[in-house]
Amino acid sequence: HYQGIIFDLDGVICHTDAYHYLAWKKLADRLGVYFDKQINNRLRGISRMESLDIILENSKNVYTDAEKHEFAEEKNEYYRQLLVQMSPADLSADVKNTLDILRKIGCKLAIGSSSKNARYILERIGLGHYFDAVVDGNEIQHSKPDPEVFLLAAQRLGIVSSSCLVVEDAAAGIEAAVRGGFDAAGLGDARVSPFAKYHLIQFDELIDIITGN
Ligand code: G6P
Ligand code: MG
Repeated sequence: HYQGIIFDLDGVICHTDAYHYLAWKKLADRLGVYFDKQINNRLRGISRMESLDIILENSKNVYTDAEKHEFAEEKNEYYRQLLVQMSPADLSADVKNTLDILRKIGCKLAIGSSSKNARYILERIGLGHYFDAVVDGNEIQHSKPDPEVFLLAAQRLGIVSSSCLVVEDAAAGIEAAVRGGFDAAGLGDARVSPFAKYHLIQFDELIDIITGN
């Protein structure tokens, strides 16, 4: 009964976690703020500015909004320098084959990402013109767990939420899906989420879900 699927990008289609970590770490070290991989895990699905606020929880200093915008910009420059090394080799065969099959059986495919770098990442991994709709962090006012990004993606696909499945690796993303009236499939961190209807171990399980097997 699903006519379309909206995929989160980071942690679902490809893995940018390590790059986010290195870029935030470089900024945190410069500011003398403690930062580790556990804290990085809390940033999944969360916007850049909200991520910065979480990182600065460990800072003794109080910064102005202008300073915070500069820090976020600095982190993004480090991050973009790292993204340059991404290529179609960063798209797994499992993910690519599954997407191709889903498309072949008539399922509409969209991206719903909090990232402002989503379109650049899609280009790097060779999916620049692949999806029927791409909605990213540049187009939304409210980041996940607000459902805005998924509702806009469903609207672009011309499909109501109840006929769209959302695939997510972050708790904030599963919550956004449920709040928007979507069924959610969790993988990675979000696989064990009690709010996800499906718990994916492998990406290609999506084909069985869509074909109703
Ligand atoms: C994704 C990632 C988050 C990241 C957010 C914003 O949701 O999972 O970790 O903070 O995008 O990314 P951006 O590329 O706009 O800084
Ligand atoms: Mg994600």
